[in-house]
Amino acid sequence: MGAKKFTVFIILVGIASLLVAYVNAHDHMAKFGYTGLLGPEKWGSLSPEYLACSNGNIQSPINIEKNNVVRSAKLEPLAREYKPANATLVNNGFNIELRLQGNAGSLLIDGESYILKHMHWHSPSEHTIDGNQYPAELQLVHQSHNGNISIVAILFQFGDPDPFLFQINDHLDRLAKESCEADEEAQIPIGVLRSKQIKQVTQVHFRYVGSLTSPPCTQNVIWNILGKVREMSKEQLAALKAPLHEDYKCNSRPTQPINGRSVELCKSDFY
Ligand SMILES: *[C@@H]1O[C@H](CO)[C@@H](O)[C@H](O)[C@H]1NC(C)=O
Repeated sequence: MGAKKFTVFIILVGIASLLVAYVNAHDHMAKFGYTGLLGPEKWGSLSPEYLACSNGNIQSPINIEKNNVVRSAKLEPLAREYKPANATLVNNGFNIELRLQGNAGSLLIDGESYILKHMHWHSPSEHTIDGNQYPAELQLVHQSHNGNISIVAILFQFGDPDPFLFQINDHLDRLAKESCEADEEAQIPIGVLRSKQIKQVTQVHFRYVGSLTSPPCTQNVIWNILGKVREMSKEQLAALKAPLHEDYKCNSRPTQPINGRSVELCKSDFY
């Protein structure tokens, strides 16, 4: 190889490695966890993209103090309309998630429509009510056309099996088997998911403005915590945790300072 050709070769290799580095940097979020050096107190220092986790002043989850909620006359009942949609069950490494394809339905807040994108479980619950933490919390993540996020959270105590989880029971077992082998996130397409049980009418919900509860801890998320605590069996919670690595079986962020935010209560007589 001549000197000129060699120089061109080196330059090309240089450009190629820069491209690979660029793609990697944008493809992979920094790893975070729930204990030790990767734990919630460290999130803000794990990556510049996670700064809001330590600097943000309207972070989630929070403890809801029932005596301090504001009864808002303006706050309307939660208007949700979900449709059957094809879904994929995912172990993304830090929680178990259902990703929905197409139009899975939406949530209407102040005239803005938020489409249901995915849902995932945390255990124990992230939000607490009067200091009470529950065994699990399901978070339904909705996004509007201009990128705003609103999450509906459902708290669970132990009791009867949850009919919605019942639908994905066998898939969870399969996910647990595949997760052992997979280095990357494990995915299982599960076909059409019926979401009747997650849109059950609820008379009370709490609303406040907070953030995503995991990095990048993005702020201005509108939270809607359903007042009715639902039930799942201990076996169902065990099945939900089975695919997760030991360090992620407990995956809830501690409650964050309220910093003067108000929590609104919607109590509806319409239902
Ligand atoms: C689910 O996916 C299948 C196969 O791609 C498709 O035929 C079906 O219409 C989809 N159903 C819904 C509710 O989107």
